[in-house]
Amino acid sequence: MIDWTELHPGVWRARVGASSSFTPLDLVGATPREDGLAELRGAPFPFAGPSPSVIGVTECCTALRFPLAPEERIYGFGLHFNRLNHRGNVMRLQVDHYGGRDDGRSHASMPFYVSSDGYAVLLNTARVATAHIGTSVRKDDPDRPPSRDRNTDREWDALPPADAVEMAVPAGGVEAFVFAGPTALDAVRRYNLFCGGGVLPPRWALGFWHRVPTLYTDEQIDAEVAEFEARGYPLQVVGLEPGWHSKAYPCTYEWDASRFPEPGAFVDRMTDKGIRVNLWENAYVSPDAPIHDALEPLSGSHMVWGGIVPDYTLPEARGILAGQHRREHADIGVSGYKLDECDGHDHWLWPAHATFPSGHTGEEMRQTYGLQLQTLTDGVFRDAGQRTFGLTRASYTGASSLPYALYSDYYDHRAFVTALCNCGFSGLLWSPEIRSAGDAEEWARRMQTVCFSPVAMLNAWASGTKPWSYPEIEDAIREVMRLRIRLIPYLYTAFARYHFDGTPPFRSTVLEEGDVSDRSDQYMMGDSLLVAPLFRGETEREVEFPTGSWYDFYTGEHAGDGGAHTVSAPLERIPLFVRDGGLIPMAQDDGDGLDIRYYGTAPHASYRYYMDDGETYAYERGEYAWATLEATGDANDFTATVVAPPSGQADDLRGAVWHMMTSGG
Ligand code: GAL
Repeated sequence: MIDWTELHPGVWRARVGASSSFTPLDLVGATPREDGLAELRGAPFPFAGPSPSVIGVTECCTALRFPLAPEERIYGFGLHFNRLNHRGNVMRLQVDHYGGRDDGRSHASMPFYVSSDGYAVLLNTARVATAHIGTSVRKDDPDRPPSRDRNTDREWDALPPADAVEMAVPAGGVEAFVFAGPTALDAVRRYNLFCGGGVLPPRWALGFWHRVPTLYTDEQIDAEVAEFEARGYPLQVVGLEPGWHSKAYPCTYEWDASRFPEPGAFVDRMTDKGIRVNLWENAYVSPDAPIHDALEPLSGSHMVWGGIVPDYTLPEARGILAGQHRREHADIGVSGYKLDECDGHDHWLWPAHATFPSGHTGEEMRQTYGLQLQTLTDGVFRDAGQRTFGLTRASYTGASSLPYALYSDYYDHRAFVTALCNCGFSGLLWSPEIRSAGDAEEWARRMQTVCFSPVAMLNAWASGTKPWSYPEIEDAIREVMRLRIRLIPYLYTAFARYHFDGTPPFRSTVLEEGDVSDRSDQYMMGDSLLVAPLFRGETEREVEFPTGSWYDFYTGEHAGDGGAHTVSAPLERIPLFVRDGGLIPMAQDDGDGLDIRYYGTAPHASYRYYMDDGETYAYERGEYAWATLEATGDANDFTATVVAPPSGQADDLRGAVWHMMTSGG
């Protein structure tokens, strides 16, 4: 038996054996959002029947067993690319470059899962855990499946089902948590709130990102930005790839004087156009970096590409990198980083037996290095009172509140959508970046997914592609990029919900009421919008609507009720559907005000709209407000009301126009 203590309503903790003091939750400084947790419905300890148990604790292995009901489906475990329900899978949950198989090695693989029965389980460990998800049949289990004769029995199964998730950690103890539902979405919300609430990105981060070819100079970037403007494509963030460093792989973190003779002036030019600058980096420090010698005694035993590997669990090492980043980047207006290569293949990263001055093992450092870099670089901007947002190639347990989205060198459109769905279970964000395409059709379909994802980004570091690279569809691409920008008010509120009540802004429809389909090719963006991307070669597809009536986003027409439907869309459009009674606040096409769309026939709709300054941390001190948007009536005669809070923050509600999208509604 395990001795559980309820720490917050619906959150239980147990310590088994001698658990380590170095944990990912401590590393990220997870501070539970008590207010949000208190607002969730109460729920009992989820294991009403058989209880979780300790299989064994030795000096080098702690194994726990969590019972499963026969029909239970198991989601989560971080970022994975090929399936949602992991039941029947065995995963070694190692933070690593993704190798094409959901065997546990991935950029953000973590011992956290969510059950379709409405609860979640977490092991708070920096070690590589193993999960046997309904696959390990025990001799002492009275309900174990019968032995069968493969010679004659067609029912013989190479993977006879087991009635538990067994997780093992190679350590003498572990800290475990259980999060109650009652629904799976509630359990995810509890986990996110326990980790400090989801991230609230600066508003600009929800715009369009373009990463330029690696060796571009400041003048080439000026020209590229001018072309975006001239052609009418939105652009909010320019990403610089390795060539901005005087040396990269390993890095100096210093501007290359030949390509960027005046970095401050360059960043100012971008800022004047409303464009932020994001800098690529990896964590391996070049002998030519001015901070190298100070970091050298604070680094691990092994090198990566001839660079030292600083131990960023040490405050002194963090201070050195943070100081340099502040002086050379943040102080001149850079907005954030792309933290590359902090995952890594065994053949180039430091080995698990590497040693570090803090005493943490090479394995612990590999599991948490992405978290270390995220918290360190976030701190640089936090100190200056400015929110940052960036990209990371590695993340782990507890990352919900960190301002980073994951990406990969892997490049499969369908797998990217599955990854987007999977991240929503585990407090992670995913960027299904577009780089190149085989033809105009693929370019359109990928760009549509990109524009309906956490980070809408073209990563042209190697390809040099532009949004207009396929002239035959350049108008459609411009349109979908603009639609993304128009949806920022809706999206920003969805992120505010992530922060204040833990609801993931992008999530699988499996978390919605009535969807038992396990479809990995459709997802929710916010509470009302269902996104069903089309892929190259498709003009129609099946979509599974959760319970209720759903309406076409573009026309407002009824698209179907809960269950499976075939839908189609021309190449120019990504299929989008709105829940009955959905209110979608969008920016007006040609103005500053809001265009509030009301879908469906529900006689009454209500929506809480979030407002703050969009850039600083003032919201953490209470400087934010929620307005209530309400609509009642039908298409011919409806009453729209905005209940604005009595603060000066309701400016964007002035001049709002309303559209009843569904005729007869
Ligand atoms: C890769 C990264 C790419 C790009 C490239 C630059 O590791 O995944 O997105 O940044 O490095 O060299």
